[in-house]
Amino acid sequence: MVSLDVGCGKQKRGDIGMDVYPGPQVDVVWDLRKTPWPFEAEKFDTVYAIHVLEHLPWALEPQYEDGLFSVMGEIHRVLKPGGKLVIITPHQQSRYAWGVPTHRRVFNETTWTHFSRDLWTGVYSLESPDGIGREPLFERSSIRVDREFGSAYPFGFREWHVEHRLPRVYRVMCALRIGRKRNLYVELTKAAAKRPPTGS
Ligand SMILES: C[S@@+](CC[C@H](N)C(=O)[O-])C[C@H]1O[C@@H](n2cnc3c(N)ncnc32)[C@H](O)[C@@H]1O
Repeated sequence: MVSLDVGCGKQKRGDIGMDVYPGPQVDVVWDLRKTPWPFEAEKFDTVYAIHVLEHLPWALEPQYEDGLFSVMGEIHRVLKPGGKLVIITPHQQSRYAWGVPTHRRVFNETTWTHFSRDLWTGVYSLESPDGIGREPLFERSSIRVDREFGSAYPFGFREWHVEHRLPRVYRVMCALRIGRKRNLYVELTKAAAKRPPTGS
């Protein structure tokens, strides 16, 4: 099983870390916006994109295509059939989504309807970002959202402390939908290879 972490920074998951800046965890220094990436097709079982997609620009810089669509296309290309893409981004409701000055786009659950067949609205897809009727890239998805409870807590008591020191309380608060949505956890599966017809 081989995995790739795109935008790994200082916290690589899996085997190969790729980032635009060099660092001890970075095996391949590469700007994700530059395609094709330096990997052959169908190399990886899993690709991680953890808190990186929100840094990708729209197609405003003339030398690049729309950052998100070209990156999703490359991830799909380097994944094996049946491989998984694991994404974490801030949810649009989170104060971090637009609060972090280096973020250039935000996401919510609807974003992934454009990329996965089981959520597909049938309107947008990679091959036809502003067209109709093309196939989505991935076949299955799962989406989970966690919560944040605001920043004005006594003694700096934030959701991080609740989540890590009082995990049961945190789970109950999430189940009761207290606070705002914080991070989106998305898993997308590339379609498995079609079996060749059997018999003659
Ligand atoms: C918020 S950090 C997340 C790092 C790591 N994935 C984690 O979870 O801790 C975002 C990372 O994405 C990288 N990044 C941003 N834009 C990139 C690009 N165009 N190409 C490659 N890496 C990029 C940054 O250098 C940074 O390491």
